Amino acid sequence: MDDKPVQRPEDDYAFPQAGRERMILPQPVSTLGMGAGNVEKQMLARMSPDRVFMMGDNPALPRMPKAPQLLDFFRLRFTEITFNHLLQSAKTALDAGQDEKIVIACLLHDISNGALLRTEHGYWSAQIVAPYVSEEVAWAIQHHQALRYFADEAAGFKYPDAYNKFFGPDYQPPEYIQQAHRDARAHRWYMTSRLITVYDLYSFEANCPVDPEQFTDIIGRNFKQPREGLGFDGSPTAHMWRTMIWPNNFL
Ligand SMILES: [Fe+2]
Ligand SMILES: [Fe+2]
Repeated sequence: MDDKPVQRPEDDYAFPQAGRERMILPQPVSTLGMGAGNVEKQMLARMSPDRVFMMGDNPALPRMPKAPQLLDFFRLRFTEITFNHLLQSAKTALDAGQDEKIVIACLLHDISNGALLRTEHGYWSAQIVAPYVSEEVAWAIQHHQALRYFADEAAGFKYPDAYNKFFGPDYQPPEYIQQAHRDARAHRWYMTSRLITVYDLYSFEANCPVDPEQFTDIIGRNFKQPREGLGFDGSPTAHMWRTMIWPNNFL
């Protein structure tokens, strides 16, 4: 992916907190259990008139447009692996002749891994996009979290070899995931979610770049982009999009 930010007219104005060092406190969820000491107290002690905590645009990240749309997050925020993975999954579903609802579900299924959270990613991803997609698509994204641990060979899904490597061959999903799988199997939208797992690519090394622009029309018909931009439309998940715009904010 060419992640060089495009120079935009709004880049001309100064970044906030100009002239001062901007400290970034790691998010609690990303350091818990890592064995690193808690740096909160040390960083608070380092504050001075010239050294403050980051708020707003981080000069180390490409500046987002004022009214960001879905593909801006893909291009300017997502990690390369998630960027490629989502586009390749959606392309595979499209090439297989799947309905647009499956293609959009594949395009969004792991969206939280791009720039927010990996833990519980099916639930987070569903919640982030829920105000903008159909109820069925959000449901399918949520339940792929559980379904990917359980084979359905009649539907074309085997337990991924990659999971034996990621988690060890003796890994057993916890009870709440087993329950979510049972619930999903009995649901009328089961196949929508199951197809996400079928077109999910479990090899993350494959390098076949997909141009995100080819999904512009499908996004237009299946994802309600707010005029004010994602993060600024007052939706119940606007704060999640803003967190991806300004991931280093102190508060
Ligand atoms: Fe996933
Ligand atoms: Fe995936």
